[in-house]
Amino acid sequence: MTIQSSISGPNARAPIGRLFTKVFLWFWLTVLALFAIFLASRMLGTRVVPSTDVIASFAPRVADEAAHAYESGGAQEFEQFERGLVGKSGIELYLIDGYGKDVLSRPIPSDTLSIVRAARSDGRVLTRYGLSSHRSSYKFTSPSGHPYVLLVRAGWQVGRFLDTTAGGGLPLFGAVLLMVTIFCLWLTHHIVAPIQGIQSAARRVAAGDLSVRSPAEVSERHDELAALAADFDAMVERLSAFVRSQKDLLSTVSHELRSPLTRLIMSLALLRKQSPPEAEELLQRMEHDVGRVDTLMGQLLTLSRLETGLSSDARDNVDLSQLVQEVVADGDFEAHSCGKSVRLQAEGGIVIEKADQQALRSACENIIRNAIRFTTPGSEVEVILKTEKMTASSQAVLSVRDYGPGVPGESLQQIFQPFFRVREPSGDPRAKNGTGLGLAIALEAIRQHRGTIIASNANPIGLEVKILLPTCYL
Ligand SMILES: Nc1ncnc2c1ncn2[C@@H]1O[C@H](COP(=O)(O)OP(=O)(O)OP(=O)(O)O)[C@@H](O)[C@H]1O
Ligand SMILES: [Mg+2]
Repeated sequence: MTIQSSISGPNARAPIGRLFTKVFLWFWLTVLALFAIFLASRMLGTRVVPSTDVIASFAPRVADEAAHAYESGGAQEFEQFERGLVGKSGIELYLIDGYGKDVLSRPIPSDTLSIVRAARSDGRVLTRYGLSSHRSSYKFTSPSGHPYVLLVRAGWQVGRFLDTTAGGGLPLFGAVLLMVTIFCLWLTHHIVAPIQGIQSAARRVAAGDLSVRSPAEVSERHDELAALAADFDAMVERLSAFVRSQKDLLSTVSHELRSPLTRLIMSLALLRKQSPPEAEELLQRMEHDVGRVDTLMGQLLTLSRLETGLSSDARDNVDLSQLVQEVVADGDFEAHSCGKSVRLQAEGGIVIEKADQQALRSACENIIRNAIRFTTPGSEVEVILKTEKMTASSQAVLSVRDYGPGVPGESLQQIFQPFFRVREPSGDPRAKNGTGLGLAIALEAIRQHRGTIIASNANPIGLEVKILLPTCYL
């Protein structure tokens, strides 16, 4: 059972989908950033190539052949050897002699000088990864006893890098990305879903349903979210106990006051017979005030009877079409005395199964009476009753629309609270004779029949109150 209105008030909350997106992006970007740092650490810096690496196993052979080519055929032979080995791959091969000069007399690129100097004498390959290229150096001595450094310089290529780093290249990289995304989605769901569960429970509590508890799957977890759910449940439990004790108190007080009030009314009637005519005005005022207190007590008792639940003995099949017709006829009769009227447009034979006739009559009367009271003189209150087909069942829809001042947007939900009355700018309640309990009674009566009650301002003026009632709800 919810109270709805056409406004979204200050209670409107940020959609939970936004939290889901945020948490997901945090995880996803964090994992991607870690991945990027890992790749960068592989891409940059100087490392000795492990002996298991294919480069380490090929380096001595290439070095021997390069030295042999140079020593047997000079620079020309080496040049041929180099061209045959690297072709147009963009890789540059240098053979640097013991004097630090390239055997082809090419200038040694400045970004390779340090790696040439740092070339290791233990026969291992040293590689330096840079942003634009990577360079490897290998120091060796040829069979004729001359020292050389073999220098390889290659441009940076993403594909080649991924091949050597991730092994399978781009497809593997894609698969890893997909797995990371799925894992992040799962993790986000794991964190956000319980929050979503507690939030929807909190919303139902805010709408007045104090029987709600956080979802079982959240309470069964063993983490802080389960603790939050337990705290939430404890809070609602205490709230519900507090509200129950307040209602009990109100019910007891109104019950206890009823008998003395009845005696007071009878005593006043007796007193009137014996009192002098000058006391008449005073007696009238006393009767009026006592009458108001009596009405208030009556309404409080009705409300507390509804709140404690309707007994199943009082339930029967209720002809809603006939009930509404009777209430409208009575209302129309009263309305005519102040130049107003009530028009009914109703489908016949709408029956609410296992309903409490008294409670439904009370709900309809309160809403139609309000409309008659607030509609401007000369105007007509429109009452429409029809049925709507739902997927498995049907529901009755009763709409009551007047041409009065309507209700300020921010009060559309509050008018269903006990004792709430819209105040004029002067601070006086708009309905001076009202107690503010009528709509609270209507809400409780409809709630007991698992229905919904909606108030919204009509265009251009007036208020429309709609009751949606399942025709069969047990
Ligand atoms: N049709 C309406 N048009 C304008 N204001 C309305 C209308 N119905 C209700 N209200 C506002 O909502 C308040 C609460 O209505 P509710 O029926 O609960 O109490 P009441 O009419 O003041 O008193 P009671 O019905 O207990 O005699 C009213 O005081 C009034 O300010
Ligand atoms: Mg009322």
